[in-house]
Amino acid sequence: MEVIITKNYDEMSKKAAEVIKDVVKKNHSAVLGLATGTTPIGLYKELIAACAKKEISFKNVKTVNLDEYVGLPKEHVQSYDYFMKDNLFNHIDIDIKNTNLPSGVAPDLDAECARYTALLGKMKQSVQLLGLGSNGHIGFNEPKTPFDSTTHIVNLTESTIKDNSRLFDDISEVPTKAITMGIANIMNAEKVLVVASGKNKAKAVYSMVKGPVTEDCPASVLQRHPDVVVVVDEDAASLL
Ligand code: F6R
Repeated sequence: MEVIITKNYDEMSKKAAEVIKDVVKKNHSAVLGLATGTTPIGLYKELIAACAKKEISFKNVKTVNLDEYVGLPKEHVQSYDYFMKDNLFNHIDIDIKNTNLPSGVAPDLDAECARYTALLGKMKQSVQLLGLGSNGHIGFNEPKTPFDSTTHIVNLTESTIKDNSRLFDDISEVPTKAITMGIANIMNAEKVLVVASGKNKAKAVYSMVKGPVTEDCPASVLQRHPDVVVVVDEDAASLL
């Protein structure tokens, strides 16, 4: 695990964007595993700027996202589908047909989990970007999720609902379920890039990098992956 500590959020975003840009420069039809949440927004801005400058092109790039809330239609401003269009896809030269998210409104969610896992089997991520939950979750794989899990439906924990409520008008509007890639799907990526910023992530960063490998901290499984880059700012790294 390579750990890069940056001064602040902006530097974290730039460094992490370099990792993704390198992957795309080396492989024009790379498969990017993407994440939502607050942390990658700066990184996505860097990718948008690099695309505008023609430093990189996403014309042949394909994407697979980690997760989606259950019950929010694509058009909902808090859906992850909306987030990805708003923060990245609408501003780069990607073909929207090459972008994939699990559906949280599929009539048969078990079938949707199977479909997404099969898709991931055909589209191994060249790099999987991850944010980190303050409880150590990756994707929506909450503590105690089996390491061999594939795409599944999760009941979000109180702490995740509370963390995510900042983006909703009221905590009661936060969905209580999500569909997420499993830990095995994440570990299948050729490379993993984790970004974290802020003091509230310091404990989770410590457990991911230096703690025991345990299902109590899903991110700790990454210690077993052969190619992981962790880019964190000083606050998030403060317990290392
Ligand atoms: C997002 C995701 C989550 C977030 C994590 C951190 O697709 O799967 O695991 O990466 O909750 O979120 P932020 O970046 O908002 O702190």
